[in-house]
Amino acid sequence: MIRLSALVAAVALATVASTAQAQKTGAEVYATCSACHQANGQGLPGAFPPLAGSEWVTGKADIPIAIVLHGLQGQITVKGQKYNGVMASWGTTFNDDQVAAVVTYIRSQWGNKAPAVTKADVARVRAATKARKGAFTEAELKKL
Ligand code: HEC
Repeated sequence: MIRLSALVAAVALATVASTAQAQKTGAEVYATCSACHQANGQGLPGAFPPLAGSEWVTGKADIPIAIVLHGLQGQITVKGQKYNGVMASWGTTFNDDQVAAVVTYIRSQWGNKAPAVTKADVARVRAATKARKGAFTEAELKKL
């Protein structure tokens, strides 16, 4: 019994450690995004849309994954405000683990409460969108 409880405690500790590691990685990757979207996820009015409370971030997981992998261009409405800029793609800068970490991070910060995404989710979206060239548009995101 003592051995079993020690094992349970070790597994619990390892889980806490790996969760902390995943969060740290998400926060680290987010340092790249915060130049535009800001550390508090509020963006900058008229230039960079907010991630805090964004329906695109907290909706279907494939949407923020696709945006990070391929970028976004053209008019998009976020929280009732229109933006019309260009966001670069990050799919060659970040691997599946890093994309999963940052998307999980933005879905769970600043009051956002959407489920985590996994490396496998990112790999699936990456494979499904492999042939595409250029950034997504709002209309295309709605079809994902
Ligand atoms: C150089 C500035 C810049 C950086 C860096 C940047 N973005 Fe963006 N992002 C934008 C702009 C501009 C748009 C809106 C594009 C448009 O108008 O079509 C956008 C849109 C988005 C959207 C969809 C709209 C919304 O507000 O929900 C998400 C999600 C997003 N970015 C996530 C990220 C993540 C995650 C990173 C870091 C990996 C990142 N962005 C890095 C400029 C940036």
